[in-house]
Amino acid sequence: MSRQFLLGRPVVLGRTEEGQAFALHDVCAHRAAPLSAGRQVTEGGRSCVECPYHGWRFDVSTGKCLKIPALSEKEEIKAGGFRSPAYPVHEDRGLIWVYVPEDLKRFDGTPTMPPPALPEGVPGAVPKMVVKAHAEGPYDEAVIGLVDPAHTPYVHQQWFWRNPAEAQEKTKDYVPTDYGFKMKAHKPASNGRAYKLIGGAATTEIEFRLPAIRLELICNEKYTILGLTAITPTEDQKADITQMFFWDMPLLSAIKPFAYPLAKTFLGQDGNILRLQNENIVLENPTMMYAGDPDRLAQWYVKLKRAFAEGGAEGFKNPIDPAVLHWRT
Ligand code: FES
Ligand SMILES: [Fe+2]
Repeated sequence: MSRQFLLGRPVVLGRTEEGQAFALHDVCAHRAAPLSAGRQVTEGGRSCVECPYHGWRFDVSTGKCLKIPALSEKEEIKAGGFRSPAYPVHEDRGLIWVYVPEDLKRFDGTPTMPPPALPEGVPGAVPKMVVKAHAEGPYDEAVIGLVDPAHTPYVHQQWFWRNPAEAQEKTKDYVPTDYGFKMKAHKPASNGRAYKLIGGAATTEIEFRLPAIRLELICNEKYTILGLTAITPTEDQKADITQMFFWDMPLLSAIKPFAYPLAKTFLGQDGNILRLQNENIVLENPTMMYAGDPDRLAQWYVKLKRAFAEGGAEGFKNPIDPAVLHWRT
């Protein structure tokens, strides 16, 4: 079990003996001790977390209290009247998605958005490589970093990526998807050096979807690579940037020890520019500008988020129209 923060709330994450992932509010319903400091036990055949303070036992799948050990049989109080709310958890190929409702106390257990589905044909039971970086500052700025094409040649200026002097005119074709938008499959730009690795007639398709997930699917006749980036809001003004890769290309497995530090550097560059930007946001709370097509995707993200907040689960209508965008990167 471990204590994590999601949207500023403490969550105890763990797995039952059967391997089932769970997430509970990490504040005991009795007197607020962290359940993550307790231990995992079974009670009446159910997997439970036992609070380290007075030993109350909470069912990990429902959050219901199953036992209050200090209560005498003469008491009328029933353990089942107390709960440490459970968060819906979905596990898919080694990734654990936790749904965080707006109001945990009144949450009826039904998420308003389905967990993200990985594209068909994604190779591997779990990601082959996982890289993490930290972002500081407004969450939306970190998410915009996922869809912002114009920062790439500047922030990620290095031999294996691209150089601003090599910028080319780009035309990209976008269509709306269920919870976001997608750049239609196309041939990678000739100045994207890392794409050369896969070779053949490679195509790449890039999708962004709410809440903050970027999927990049690269395929050629033989191989498939999926890069999945997720921004997880942890504490106030803090987020984790997690980049995961699935692949079936033996060459990538062979060069992984070499690729990992490069990927780490790459992601760290995003974390670093966000930290620098945030210093100024804290100082001056400046108005953010959006200039033309290079900033269109950032505007789409803001629009999508607003539409979801207004429409809710049933009323959400994707506000994005198909569009052809132009920029130089
Ligand atoms: S605080 Fe958890 S059992 Fe008392
Ligand atoms: Fe970046």
